[in-house]
Amino acid sequence: MRIFNTDTMSTAGEANWTREGLQHLVTTKLAGRLFIVVSNREPYIHTSAGGEIQCLVPASGLTVALDPVMRSCGGVWIAHGSGNADRDVVDEKGHVSVPPDEPSYTLRRVWLTKEEEEGYYLGFSNQALWPLCHIAYTPPNFDESHWNTYRRVNQLFAGAVLDEVGDKQAIVFIQDYHLALLSRLIKAKNARVITAQFWHIPWPNPEAFRICPWGEEILDGLLGNNILGFHIGYHCENFLETVRRMLEVKIDYERSAVSRGGETTLVRSFPISVDFDRIAIDARRQEVVKEIEQIRRRWRLSDEIIGIGIDRIDYTKGIPHRFRALDKLFTKYPEYQKRLVFFQLGEPSRVHIKKYKELNAEIDDLVEEINWKYESDNWRPIIYVREHLPPTALLGFQRLADFCIVSSLHDGMNLVAKEFVSSRVDNDGVLILSRFTGAARELTEALLVNPYAIDDFAETIKRAIEMPRGERQERMRKLRQIVRQNNIYRWAGGILSELADLKL
Ligand code: G6P
Repeated sequence: MRIFNTDTMSTAGEANWTREGLQHLVTTKLAGRLFIVVSNREPYIHTSAGGEIQCLVPASGLTVALDPVMRSCGGVWIAHGSGNADRDVVDEKGHVSVPPDEPSYTLRRVWLTKEEEEGYYLGFSNQALWPLCHIAYTPPNFDESHWNTYRRVNQLFAGAVLDEVGDKQAIVFIQDYHLALLSRLIKAKNARVITAQFWHIPWPNPEAFRICPWGEEILDGLLGNNILGFHIGYHCENFLETVRRMLEVKIDYERSAVSRGGETTLVRSFPISVDFDRIAIDARRQEVVKEIEQIRRRWRLSDEIIGIGIDRIDYTKGIPHRFRALDKLFTKYPEYQKRLVFFQLGEPSRVHIKKYKELNAEIDDLVEEINWKYESDNWRPIIYVREHLPPTALLGFQRLADFCIVSSLHDGMNLVAKEFVSSRVDNDGVLILSRFTGAARELTEALLVNPYAIDDFAETIKRAIEMPRGERQERMRKLRQIVRQNNIYRWAGGILSELADLKL
């Protein structure tokens, strides 16, 4: 089967997309329409600790990527208000202007009860759809009451969208697997609304997907969109094949379009990215230089080789696999003992779900076991920092590292890899990247690994450590060129241009 995707990946020599370019597109082609983004996770979370309200940026590739888009387009972002001080800073419609230091768009918070959060977020989204779409050998749990809550919460989001739209002309840009039914629900009430949805995680093959008891309803919900986006062409192919087998549809493979009951959905790949220029500017800041000094002092570092891993603690990220590879490296090449320190920075995630609790325990055990096996006087091979770190601290680690490991077992894209590359303004450092990430399709100058093949993985870490400076720099330069060109503005610009071309 051939699918002709309008791929937004640029080729060498093409002009870079910028924030201004995206703004121009919005003001010329989408003028007069209200732009609404909807996602489960909010871009800013207000929490209160010791009587003081803090504003946090969550560890979510999705929100980090979309925030710069919203900063340049303006509009309304609708999301679940999940912080314990979220209600304290909004008006009666749940509105608050963000980002706090440079207000440029409106965040509208949707409130969920604990029971709704359990059924919709911890339940159907993250115990059914998340493991269903990631091939990480964790079976999905399909619970009918979770599904019913998921549907109800999608209705709730639809209500918030329709309220914002009123009688305006609007474009609604829906994010991810939490809101698979949303476009259908919106259009049932207001057929004039244009919707695009981006699925930030992989789409599995039809054999894997068909075990979902409510698969048809999910597909029907997604086909309510005018445009449906995935990171890579392979996920588009999987989706089309799933739809072909499960529903009565007409598929035009030339256009990569699905028609059903007089409606058409274009299915396209748009590889998501990061705000390369912004990260590069931030990485040069004095605060980051200070941060590096602080890290060195805090962890009593001298001239060790530094490796890092930055992840949300999730079983799709292959964290135990990378620790086993490090273990193998220290056994096979004892000369690296006392010379290499690996920092695992991990933000706890979805901790009320049993699988995640088990993973946390497994990681703690492994770190303890490996450290016990090799540690000596002042040296420990793995330092596990299990907390939320602000962007400046993350940049400090990224700039300090000799190598960064991204070892996902399956990942739609993985933006940590692109953030690491963007932060390396010194054109140095090695990226070790799992073949099973969407990012591996673009970042071919990284050292690609199969995280399941522990021996090879250990050899790849050795290769990263021993790589001559010239080769390291050459690779990093190429990687930076790719991310610079295929940045977040190209991703958003690609989707919005397609929407503008629909001439609706
Ligand atoms: C993935 C999902 C996002 C999600 C993020 C963080 O990247 O695609 O939708 O926001 O993980 O997970 P969380 O459950 O904390 O929002």
